[in-house]
Amino acid sequence: MVILDDELGRRSGMISEAIEDLLPVVHPEELYAAGRHLVDAGGKRLRPSMLLLAAEAVGGDPKIVVPAAVSIELVHNFTLIHDDIMDNAETRRGRPAVHVKWDEAGAILAGDTLYSKAFEILTASEARPEDMVASVAMLARTCAAICEGQWLDMEFERRDQVAEDEYLEMIEKKTGVLYGASAWMGARLSGAPDLQAEGLERFGRLVGMAFQIQDDVLDLTAPAEVLGKPRGGDLAEGKKTLIMIHALSRGAEIEIFGRRNASAEEIEAALKTLKASGSIDYARKKAVSLVEEGKEALAVLPDSEAKSLLLELADYMISRSY
Ligand code: IPE
Ligand code: IPE
Ligand code: MG
Ligand code: MG
Ligand code: MG
Repeated sequence: MVILDDELGRRSGMISEAIEDLLPVVHPEELYAAGRHLVDAGGKRLRPSMLLLAAEAVGGDPKIVVPAAVSIELVHNFTLIHDDIMDNAETRRGRPAVHVKWDEAGAILAGDTLYSKAFEILTASEARPEDMVASVAMLARTCAAICEGQWLDMEFERRDQVAEDEYLEMIEKKTGVLYGASAWMGARLSGAPDLQAEGLERFGRLVGMAFQIQDDVLDLTAPAEVLGKPRGGDLAEGKKTLIMIHALSRGAEIEIFGRRNASAEEIEAALKTLKASGSIDYARKKAVSLVEEGKEALAVLPDSEAKSLLLELADYMISRSY
């Protein structure tokens, strides 16, 4: 784990440095400042790190695909800015959300700017023209899928019943596909054969779904100081996470579900009920099985240090504490 931490830290540093160059604050400065607000607050940079590792795992040069990795991180940040509006979330990465520091109109525009810049920056990666065109198409398809996933996420808040398969489709789209696209693009832009790029896409998508399940678990269990946002936000919003789907099917009573003004004590009591109903363990088990399935997809890659790091990264997706 120490090695993985170092390796991720090094790649995350490369991404942050490249962002300085590729996304300068220009006129009108306040728009770009709003766009950079969360980007500069850091974040784990797991998606771009996965892209760089995928490039290495197929024998490519990660330096060449740094702009593509930046484009993935900008798409991620665009989705976070808009997600916080949708989720009524006021804090992110320990900072006020963009729509809180500015306003909703400003946050919509800041997100749109990151989204557009992502495509421009992607094309700065050197690659065969056919691999670049395929990557632009992949990123566009992925963004549309994220919107579909986010739509379902919100639609499910208003529904009484959501099936486990529907939840899995929702997280595949809102979260899994961006990890899948990251791994795929690292490979494709490095000129890897289809079989390897497709194996990496499947790997990223499945471990990305597990990542979202862990995000749902942490929303309930991790302290706000560690998470950089308040605990229990998903309960307040009435989110149909796998944990809640399991709990509801067992008839567990969570009185504060869908209520925005729950106290810390009430959230703690809800957590106890969800633990007692086995719902947290149930979600954790599903995440473990998605990670295992995802790792199997890497069988198409030759052994290498980068492949070992990808396998470790897969485990980290669900062992992480923030
Ligand atoms: C948060 O993603 C949004 C989800 C898809 C769950 P991360 O947990 O990767 O956010 P940062 O980039 O590290 O802040
Ligand atoms: C976010 O899911 C998924 C996307 C941003 C597409 P969440 O709503 O669970 O993410 P957090 O918990 O706010 O980071
Ligand atoms: Mg959300
Ligand atoms: Mg959210
Ligand atoms: Mg969440």
